Amino acid sequence: MKPIVYCNGEFVEEQSAKVSIFDRGFLFGDGVYEVVPVVNGKLIDKFEFLQRLERSLYELELEWPCSQLEYVAMLETLIARNKLVEGSVYTQVTRGVAPRDFAFLDNTPTTCVAFTSAKPYLNSPLVETGVEVITVEDLRWKRRDIKSIALLAQCLAKQESRKQGCYESWMLEGGFITEGSSSTAYIVKNNTIITRPKSNDVLPGIRRHVLLELAGGKGIKVELQAFTLDEVLAADEAFLSSATTLVLPVVKVDGILIGDGKPGSMTLKLRQLYVERIKKQAGL
Ligand code: PDD
Repeated sequence: MKPIVYCNGEFVEEQSAKVSIFDRGFLFGDGVYEVVPVVNGKLIDKFEFLQRLERSLYELELEWPCSQLEYVAMLETLIARNKLVEGSVYTQVTRGVAPRDFAFLDNTPTTCVAFTSAKPYLNSPLVETGVEVITVEDLRWKRRDIKSIALLAQCLAKQESRKQGCYESWMLEGGFITEGSSSTAYIVKNNTIITRPKSNDVLPGIRRHVLLELAGGKGIKVELQAFTLDEVLAADEAFLSSATTLVLPVVKVDGILIGDGKPGSMTLKLRQLYVERIKKQAGL
């Protein structure tokens, strides 16, 4: 079966999907995106995704390409057309096609695309081993709360981690960790989960939001506070979360073991709580 993608109102085979070279997403990175997990053919944390997309669009003065109901229906059709059981759906909206000018014209129709990726989501061998991360300088702009498609600094950060045989880069600014190149960063100290508060400095991760809610429901202490590399190295546990990884233990940072170097019990408990929530949503 050939993969089917969505492109501006049509479901087509991927080689037939075309976007103009004058698209502002291509020329300026002028657009926003989302990655939504899919389990048992169902979109996970659908409302949180719609809310964040709404916010990103609003912050960049972009219009919805269609109603939110139609948007969800489009993604569900795409999942069905690709017979996707587990993985994710990627979708992006750009400011559309216009003569190249930094300033934007009013009323240019947005460009909207989406595609699916199949990948085991609930079970990952990395949960047992944990992953290694390195730290790099955070080179990004000042509106990291917007899920912008302009991701060059994150690509450079991720590539640096791959060069060093690691899974992820945690970005540092003024001595504090902001977040991963494509994930939220956390540490655990004395049974308290520590992660950065929401601000323009980091993307408001949906996994972050849900994990903190799940932790609160179990009476687990959460501190919303920026942390330094020294605090990471002195932590009992470290972990990351994202739409594509769910929750993964971090067992080494810059080559130094965290805690006893094994996936931490708090990390595994949080992951389990999230897996249970997903299974309920997916009807499993
Ligand atoms: N990235 N921080 C950054 C910079 C991210 O790019 C992501 C996700 C997150 C985690 O957010 P969420 O839990 O909502 O996925 C945090 C996605 C997966 C990506 O770009 O592929």
